[in-house]
Amino acid sequence: MNQNLFEQTDHYISQLLAPEDEALANAMTRMQEEDIPAISVSANQGKFLHILALMNNARTILELGTLGGYSTIWLARALPEGGRLITLESEPRHAAVALENIAYAGLEDMVDLRLGKAIDILPQLEEEQAGPFDFIFIDADKPPYVEYFEWALKLSRPGTVIVADNVIRNGKVMDDQSEDERVQGAKRFNEMLGACTGVTATILPTVGVKEFDGMAIAIVK
Ligand code: SAH
Ligand code: DHB
Ligand code: MG
Repeated sequence: MNQNLFEQTDHYISQLLAPEDEALANAMTRMQEEDIPAISVSANQGKFLHILALMNNARTILELGTLGGYSTIWLARALPEGGRLITLESEPRHAAVALENIAYAGLEDMVDLRLGKAIDILPQLEEEQAGPFDFIFIDADKPPYVEYFEWALKLSRPGTVIVADNVIRNGKVMDDQSEDERVQGAKRFNEMLGACTGVTATILPTVGVKEFDGMAIAIVK
């Protein structure tokens, strides 16, 4: 595969249609300074999530996996006044940088970062009737993606859009021999999604600055 061409294309699109303002650029710089892994969505993928949230008139967004808050900023910027985004992160070091980046972007009033394992916080969200969410972005650890999706459905209403990142993993999901638990998690997720009658869904392959991958997109019936 021509990774160089994919990277150039990602930059080409991002520069024309998803230029980073100061807050997004600052988030990237702060993550590099703090040695946080470079696994945020790319600028044009962030813009894509932003547009999906706008298309669905999202007022409430749930994100699993904050990292440094880069995708959080793109998503929160799609919210109208009074909108709200809850984002879940288990790594305190990531959460601390994300909180700074979110505040720097002026989004601290809209964004509620919950520190802890997603699988522990999701039942709490149900308990406190935080849902239904209009838009849910699944991007935390990959092995429990099926369980995260089941929780996403519980926290949804008809019309909720659920997006899951990293479901193709450089095509490794087509390899039955892969022992990578992240690949197995994505593969199990994709098979579940194909059989799920409660949503209409597809997977959009993504190429760009990161490895060849894909985003699953589902709308709740
Ligand atoms: N959405 C981010 C990238 C997220 S990377 C962006 O595109 O900008 C995945 C994040 O999920 C990491 O920060 C990791 O610490 C976090 N994570 C891993 N396991 C988790 C868990 N069990 N619960 C919540 N977050 C988790
Ligand atoms: C990984 C996680 C991500 O969310 C991503 O977009 C890319 C890679 C990972 O854990 O390897
Ligand atoms: Mg991801």
